[in-house]
Formats: sequence, structure tokens, C-alpha cells
Amino acid sequence: MLGVDYYPEHWPEARWATDARLMRDAGLQVVRLAEFAWAKMEPAEGEFDWDWLDRTVETLTATGLQVVLCTPTAAPPAWLTRNYPDILPVDAQGRHRNFGGRRHYCANSPDYRQHTRRIVGAMAARYGQHPDVIGWQIDNEFGCGQTARCYCQNCVAAFRTWLQRRYRHLDALNEAWGTVFWSQTYTDWTQIEPPALAVERPNPSHVLDYYRFSSDSWVDYQQIQIDLLRAKTNGAQFVTTNLMGLFSDLDYYKLAQPLDFITWDSYPTGHAERWREMLYASGGGEHAYDVGDLAITGLAHDLMRGAKDKPFWIMEQQPGHINWADYNPAPRSGVVRLWTWDDVAHGADAVVYFRWRACLYAQEQYHSGLLRHDGQPASGLRDVQAMSRGQQVMATIQGTRVLAEVALLHSYDDLWAIGLQPHNRDFGYLRHLFTYYRALQRAGVPVDIAPPTRDLSRYKLVIAPTLFLVDETIAENLQRYVEQGGHLLLSVRSGFKTKSNRVSDMALPGLLAGLVGATVEEWHSLPPGVTYPLEMPELAEQPFAVRIWAEALQPVTAEPLGRFVGGALDGRPAVSLNRFGDGEVVYLGAWADDRLADALLARLLSCARVEPVAAVPAGVKVMRRAGDGREFVFLLNFTDAMATAKLSMTGYTDALTGEPCGPSVEVSAREVVICQRLC
Ligand code: GAL
Ligand code: ZN
Repeated sequence: MLGVDYYPEHWPEARWATDARLMRDAGLQVVRLAEFAWAKMEPAEGEFDWDWLDRTVETLTATGLQVVLCTPTAAPPAWLTRNYPDILPVDAQGRHRNFGGRRHYCANSPDYRQHTRRIVGAMAARYGQHPDVIGWQIDNEFGCGQTARCYCQNCVAAFRTWLQRRYRHLDALNEAWGTVFWSQTYTDWTQIEPPALAVERPNPSHVLDYYRFSSDSWVDYQQIQIDLLRAKTNGAQFVTTNLMGLFSDLDYYKLAQPLDFITWDSYPTGHAERWREMLYASGGGEHAYDVGDLAITGLAHDLMRGAKDKPFWIMEQQPGHINWADYNPAPRSGVVRLWTWDDVAHGADAVVYFRWRACLYAQEQYHSGLLRHDGQPASGLRDVQAMSRGQQVMATIQGTRVLAEVALLHSYDDLWAIGLQPHNRDFGYLRHLFTYYRALQRAGVPVDIAPPTRDLSRYKLVIAPTLFLVDETIAENLQRYVEQGGHLLLSVRSGFKTKSNRVSDMALPGLLAGLVGATVEEWHSLPPGVTYPLEMPELAEQPFAVRIWAEALQPVTAEPLGRFVGGALDGRPAVSLNRFGDGEVVYLGAWADDRLADALLARLLSCARVEPVAAVPAGVKVMRRAGDGREFVFLLNFTDAMATAKLSMTGYTDALTGEPCGPSVEVSAREVVICQRLC
């Protein structure tokens, strides 16, 4: 299903019917409305004006379109800000933020929660039974514009309450944070402040709890809206919010939990620019300048699907050029269509374009829409129009699940804790994960991303690049998985810390040592230019050059698979293999580069009997969805040249043309081929 984000309040009413007709003619079925329209809905406190929104909904639905309504809380109006200044957030530098942009509110402000209840309650009462309003988006992009963490007095009070609930006794908090260090001991709850503006460095346990508290504040705030919507709407309307891919200030697993499904906002050219440095240790993926980076967009999609482990929506799909990056290239013809299929390939059941028509004024006047500023079709709309057959195929894919036999473990606790004390500035949590992600993508193996607490039994191989903060629940979950025949790869810094961000007092990898069957005797952070050669006789392409991080192992029940041959850890075991129950665990005591990741994965995939879905050249991606007795293989070419993929299995037809498909499949530049078969 395709749709579009529409801002009727930006255009004369006389234009609405034309827009609705053009949307319908392009095959769009759903329109998202109103996420920033609070000032129009409630021009003064308690005075509502619904007429314009009623008429918009009426105009759209009369044309056969369905509506997703948003609660407008991302943009509190000027009167609200002026009358209730304590709703405004305070940043980590102690500055009170002002009105004039958006997201200028604190999730813990009692006043804001009260106003939220009024506007959301009123909207839900008015549209909660509407047969053509199919669902709700809560707010818009929680945390965007560095607003996830607020340091105002409301937050100070809420933080203390949160800590009291977590630790019950101050002694427990002092112990958990190790406050005996530097005389940080607290003797009263009211002495505890947010970890901002501390001299030199704040305590990392304190900061990690503040990150958790801040994330929980949004989960709580969102719940206020969910409860109101669920109480006043008919059960047929879904409740969701829009997330931001690799954005990591919020724990998206928790935020997603009470929603029916998640949606997220995909801007491939902007994300390729924004995340490139963080994700690539050196260089940066080769990609056509106007399509974004297939691996970065892919990682974001898979992470987002993993937030709830089910199909999702793209609530904002880049429709042409954007306005907020350093460079904002216009995608060539066909790229918007490629993105749309990429969304579907990764698990999207609906793709909604942001936005319908380019705006004439204010902050986003340089952002494209499906229509140009003058109301004529932009190139993105032509891409959408060219998808009429594709839209039928999409309908048959809807509801199927992405099929992945490999899971990559990911946790916000670990990401935050590593970020607070990386120990080596090149050791980025997502960068490390991304190395394995790309290796799997090169191997033609789709992957799920999952938190370490999820049931892993359906995976043939689980990879935990760094499982940093480990408690009994996590350790037992992994043990159960391996005991029952699972294959697990763990790598550096795993089992290092407790959930309070203190180092484990056990031999490393702490609670995972039994599972790994080896201990970590020494760990070295390697500055730029220092490499330790590593040999693994079983693998091709010896030896490997380890950068960034190296660990010397002492096998106990495990057998060594590889050693350092040179460098300060010369001769010491670096890789171990432990058989545990019916499964096996490999521990890699080295930060892997692409070569090492490729070689090691080739071994692990074959031991775990994971077949690639297709052999694909660089710049081409393969994904698979299945359900209802059908399987779809997506081959997406992100390059500027024709490419050939080789399917591992047979019996496919091309879903778009009906022709037989494979085993060799030619995919044109910036094109997709969808191979379908009954299964
Ligand atoms: C998103 C946001 C939209 C719009 C868009 C521009 O992050 O949700 O409201 O600002 O970016 O690309
Ligand atoms: Zn606050």
C-alpha cells in the first residue's frame, strides 16, 4: 500500500479536492495528516476548531482515500508555550530552549501532560469512530533535534522518583554506581542531579541511568496518548508512532512494545551522509551519489523491523531531494521506486511519501514533494505512477514476514555504555555491528536484528559483535539457544560489565565464560597504525591484520581456532571454539575488518548450514519475504550498471512480468527484480 503525508493547512481549501484526485489517480491509498497542526485545531486554550480538519477528512475519504491522523504534540502552539513556560525543555548546557521550531517540550512536564490529554482526548473523541480513519500516529519523531534528554527541574524530580523505584535504598544506588569513587556518595535522594555540567567527567553509571530514565520518560509520555486513543477509538484503528532508524537516544524496543506496529522515516541520501562516518572505520561505502548507501539504509530498516519483530510501515519516504543534509542531491528517475521496493523488501507493508507538495515557505521550503512547488508532478510522482502493476504485487506481499536465518544482537544499553567509555575512539558500537551486517549482505544472507533477551530459537546463527552489559537473563537466554543446537559468534568486550555499568568481578567474559569455554586474559586497545597479525589455519587468506581491539584468550573447555602471530600478544590464542550442549560458540578476540569478517562468516554460515539466498555482486542486495504459501526474493541493484545475481534455488517467476526467473537474473541499474514462487 502506498500513501502520502499531506498538509492541507499549507494550501487553500479550493485546492484540496484536486490534490485528493491526483493522489487517488497515482494509486495512493492512504494520507497522513495533522502532526503539526495543533495551532489550527486549538487556536486558544480550550477552543477547538475542527471544521477544517473535518472538511479535509471528508474531501479525502470521499475520493476513496483512507486517513491516518496524528496527534499534534510535536508542535505546541505559541499560546501554550507562553502561558506555561515550564513545558520548555532545558538542554545539557543548562539552556532553556525557546519557541519557534518544534519539539520544544519536556516529556516530564505535568503541564504538558495535561495539555496533551486535552488535545489527544478531543481528537480521539472526534475521529475515534470514523470508519475511514484507519489509525493514529502519536506525536512525531520523539527525540528528534536532540530533544530526547532534558535537564529541567521537572526532569530532576522525575529522575529521583525513577531512581527510587529502581534502587529502593540509597545504599543500593551508591553501590551500583560506585559512588565511593571521588567522594560521590549520596546521603539524600535530593542530592542527586542529572549528569550535566559535572566538572571533568560524570560517573558512567549515573549517565547510563540518565539515558535509561530519559528514554523511559518518552515511553511513559507515549503511554498517556496510547491509553487515551485506545479508550476512545474503535478497536479497528491502529496506534503507532514514527521512529528514526539509526537514531539511538531512545530504546526503541521499549518504545515499540505497546504499539500495534512501528513506522519509521527513511531518507536514504540524508542518512548516507549523516551516518557514514560513524559506521565506516575507513573510506565509506561506494554508492551512486543519489541513491544513498544500500547497507546504511538496510541496517536502519532491519533495526526498525527488529524493534517489534514484525512488518512495519514507512511513514515518511524521501520522495526526491531533501533539505537538511550538507548536500541534497535530487534522485534520478527510478530511484524513488527503488527505495519503495527496498522498503518492502525489508518488511514494509505500506510506504507513505513525505510530502505531497513542496512547501512555499518556512523551514522546509527546499524539501521536495511528489508535486513541485507549482503543483505539477515532480519526478517522484512519476516513479509512483509507474508502479501500478507493482502496487498489485505489493498487495500480495503485504503481511508476509522477512525470512532471516541469522540474527545480529543489538542493545541500546550496550551502545550507550560503549559510547560513554569507548576506550578506543575508533571503537563504535554500531560500526562494529555494521562490519558483520555488511559481511552478511555481501554473502547474500538476510539478517534480523534482535535484542539479547529475545527468543532466538528460530535462528541458525546468532552473532553478538559486542554483548557488553550482561545479566543472568541474557546469559541464560544465550545458553538455552546454544544448548538446543544454536551456533553463536561472540566477539570482543562481551560479558565485560554488569547492568549498572560496572566491570564484572569475574574472569572475562564474565557470566558468559562457561558458554565460551575460555577466559579473556588481556585486552589491548590498538591506536591507529598498530596491527596484530592473526592466523586461523582453517580459513583462507591468512593472516589477518587486527586493528582497534585485540584480546588474548585462555581456553578452558574450548579449543583454539586462531592465534596472534606477532605484536604484543604474539603466540596467544585469539579465537576459540566451544561445543556446548548441541551447539557451538566461537569467540573472536579481535575487532574484525571486512576480510576477517568475510572469512570467518563463510565458515560459520557453512557450519550452521545457512545457504545464501542469492550470490550478488557489490552494490546489489538480496532480501526474502515469505508467508501464505508464497516466497518472494527481492534483488535490488543500487549501482549505475547492469548486474547479475545468481539465485540459490529454482522455480521462481518474475512477479512483475510473469516470466520465469533465474537461476541467473539480470537486474538493470537502479532497478529491482522480484522473484516469486509457491512454497
Ligand atoms: C522528518 C520529519 C518531517 C520532516 C522531514 C524532512 O524527520 O518527521 O516532519 O521534517 O524530516 O525530511
Ligand atoms: Zn525536562
